[in-house]
Amino acid sequence: SSNQMWGGRFASGPDAIMEEINASIGFDKKLYAQDIRGSIAHATMLAHQGIISAEDKDKIVAGLETILKEIESGTFEFSRQLEDIHMNVEARLANLIGPAAGRLHTARSRNDQVALDFRLWVKEELQKTERALTALIAAFLDRAEEHADTVMPGFTHLQTAQPVTFGHHCMAYVEMFGRDRLRVRHAIEHLDESPIGAAALAGTGFPIDRHMTAKALGFREPTRNSIDTVSDRDFALEFLSIAAIAATHLSRLAEEIVIWSTPQFGFIRLSDAFSTGSSIMPQKKNPDAAELVRAKTGRINGSLIALLTVMKGLPLAYSKDMQEDKEQVFDAAESLELAIAAMTGMVRDMTVRADRMKAAAGSGYSTATDLADWLVREAGLPFRDAHHVTGRAVALAEQKGCELAELPLAELQAIHPAITDKVYGVLTVEASVASRTSFGGTAPSNVRQQVAWWRGRI
Ligand code: ARG
Repeated sequence: SSNQMWGGRFASGPDAIMEEINASIGFDKKLYAQDIRGSIAHATMLAHQGIISAEDKDKIVAGLETILKEIESGTFEFSRQLEDIHMNVEARLANLIGPAAGRLHTARSRNDQVALDFRLWVKEELQKTERALTALIAAFLDRAEEHADTVMPGFTHLQTAQPVTFGHHCMAYVEMFGRDRLRVRHAIEHLDESPIGAAALAGTGFPIDRHMTAKALGFREPTRNSIDTVSDRDFALEFLSIAAIAATHLSRLAEEIVIWSTPQFGFIRLSDAFSTGSSIMPQKKNPDAAELVRAKTGRINGSLIALLTVMKGLPLAYSKDMQEDKEQVFDAAESLELAIAAMTGMVRDMTVRADRMKAAAGSGYSTATDLADWLVREAGLPFRDAHHVTGRAVALAEQKGCELAELPLAELQAIHPAITDKVYGVLTVEASVASRTSFGGTAPSNVRQQVAWWRGRI
């Protein structure tokens, strides 16, 4: 039989394949609460404007509230013939309240309806993401404060570069997740306009009040252009880009956790709660959560590219292609939520092995720059010359198989006569990090200041 919503023009119903490719109820049922909220606001506005009667509005609202309960208690029967969440709800409303249900869709189209539902959903998801990022930042602040003095090797090219503090390394992630949180806040501002009332694409001749529905639904104001309103999925793309950037940060951290927890590095030990064992090798403790966080990034990036690609060729205004926006966003949202939560748990629980970090920090001639800086400061050498002298000292130490601080003074003086025994004071990793007090530098005193600054912002 033909569709009850538009059957007037149709002599027969859809082919089974048509129905299968067309239906979105399998995933857009997730929007039921937003759909019902939007319909209640719309019906209330229609009655307020005298477009429908108060009695019909009351029936509609009561019916929608019943449907909400039915869906939440699991008794609602979703139907694929009814295609999507909007028509499933409206058809059930007709069963419940009769002909009054047919008045709900006055001055409205599924085009502005779906734009509304999806915006409301993405807005809530952004708010959740903001809270999750705040929890992750808080976990890092605790670890950074605890390890403001813990010295570890800083890396470039994953080669030992200069000693840093573990607290400073933690605060690098606080900065990244702090920017992600700012992007989330901006995205909430960008999408905070109500689509409902744009109708199919051109607006409507009914005397609707879009400011009233915008206010009732918690939006700052209504959107200004009806064509843009039903064509736009920037809010979904923005969510996905923010998710992709945040996931990239999470993935780099996950990669570091995987490396740090190897016996070869041994910088951290993950808690039992956030690691797994091996079914054959009894000694193993694997960082599966970190690996899965790293992998989720691939899915999230994929979702961003998928939706960008769906949108790029669409003429204005609505095309059915846009129905494919939801699964990408739902999947990315689930992945991101889980990844942030798992990362928060790992960071909060992990054991930091300060002894291992410190031992590694001192290897690989990590204080060579401190020697060069000393030559500039104490012996007045130009930095390039100091760099060359230090390079010779490193080569000598390497040849003798010892650390810089283990080279006898006479041998250092043979490389440059201005070197005195005071130089040994700058060759320890503690002295190295303590000296780096430039704004944003790794000194423990800086780390404590940065932690305090951030605590005032979470
Ligand atoms: N299920 C549709 C979607 O997700 C709802 C909008 C349908 N509008 C239309 N004109 N066919 O995009």
